[in-house]
Amino acid sequence: MPISDIDAIKTQVEADIEKINSLPALEEFRIKYLGRKGLIAQLTASIPSLAVEQRGSFGQQANVLKNKIASLVDEKQKLLAAPAGETIAGQVDMSMPGFTPDLGRLHPITQVVDEICAIFNHMGFSVVEGPEIETEYNNFTGLNIPLEHPSRDVFDTFYLKAQGTGHRAQGKACAVRHEPCDRLLLRSHTSPVQIRVMKTRKPPLAVVVPGRVYRPDAVDASHSFMFHQIEGFMVDKEIRFSDLKGVLEVFAKAIFGQEIKMRFRPHFFPFTEPSAEVDISCIICKGKGCSVCGRKGWLEILGSGMIHPNVFRHVGIDPKKYTGFAFGMGVERIAMLKYGINDIRLFFENDLRFLKQF
Ligand code: PHE
Repeated sequence: MPISDIDAIKTQVEADIEKINSLPALEEFRIKYLGRKGLIAQLTASIPSLAVEQRGSFGQQANVLKNKIASLVDEKQKLLAAPAGETIAGQVDMSMPGFTPDLGRLHPITQVVDEICAIFNHMGFSVVEGPEIETEYNNFTGLNIPLEHPSRDVFDTFYLKAQGTGHRAQGKACAVRHEPCDRLLLRSHTSPVQIRVMKTRKPPLAVVVPGRVYRPDAVDASHSFMFHQIEGFMVDKEIRFSDLKGVLEVFAKAIFGQEIKMRFRPHFFPFTEPSAEVDISCIICKGKGCSVCGRKGWLEILGSGMIHPNVFRHVGIDPKKYTGFAFGMGVERIAMLKYGINDIRLFFENDLRFLKQF
C-alpha cells in the first residue's frame, strides 16, 4: 500500500470520529480501524509488498497513525461514558446550563428618581442638580424662612463648621444671617436649588431637581438622616394654581395609575403662598381606609404652592410680572407607596436580597 493511503486514512479517521456520539458507534469505529481485519492491520500486512527502502518509514507512519487512533478512541470513550453535564478537561459540554453573570442594576431609589424625572421631562421640565452642601442663605433666608423658624435650629439642620470668608466664618456674630454669612450646612430640602436656578436663569422656567437631603432625625421605619427629594417649579407670566394642579395630576396618574384621585389640603410653607399638601387616594384600599393610610383613605405625597413674592424679590425676579408654582416630594416615600415597602431603612442597608427585587 502506498504512503498516500496513510494520509487518506488519517483524513477519514478525523471525519469519522467527529460524528460519533454513542458507545456502540465508537466500537464500530474501533473495529473499522484497529480490528484484526481493520485498516491499520491491512496497512501492516502490505509492508512486505513494498520496496525494501520504503518499509521502514511506512511502518513507522502506520504505527503513529495506529497510536493516534487508539488515543482518539480512548478520549471519546471517556467523554461518552461521563455523566451528563460533566466536562472533561479541554472539552466544552454544550448541554450544560450556562452561568448567569451577576449583572449590576440601578438602586430602586435611582430607578424611581429616573422615572419621576422622565414624567416631568415629557411635560417640558429640565433636570438640574444642586450641591448637598449649601449656604444658610439658599437653604433658608432666600426662601423667606424667618430666623426664628424651628427648622433653622441646630437640632433640625446639620450645620458645618464655619468656613469661607464671611464674617461668621471669622468668628463674628451676625444678627441678620444674610447672604454674606456664608454659614454652611447640609441642605435640609431641595428648595435651595430654586434660588440657585432663579438667580442664574430667566423665566420661563420649568425645572425638576432630584437630590439628597439631610436632617438630624432619629432613624426608624419612616425616618432617615439622609433621604431623597425631587423639587419642581415653574415660573412664567400668568402661571396659576390650576397649572400646578394639572401638572401634579399628570404626574400622580403616570406614577400611581390612571384611577388615582388627588386632593389639595391647605397648608403652610414660608416660601409658597398659598400652600397646599397633596394627597392621593390610598393605593392599598382605594380610599376605603386601611392601616397604611391610617383609616383616612388618603396618603400625603408632597408639599406645594405658589412661589412667595419674597422669594422672587430675593432672586431679582419681579413678582408683579411673574408668578410660579413649586412642589417638593420625598422619593423614598413615593417608592415605598409604589412598591409596598414598609421600612425606609431597607433602601440603605445594601442587602442584596432586597435590592435584587427591583
Ligand atoms: N421644601 C419642602 C419640604 O421639604 C417641600 C416644598 C417644596 C413645599 C416646594 C412647597 C414647595 O418639606
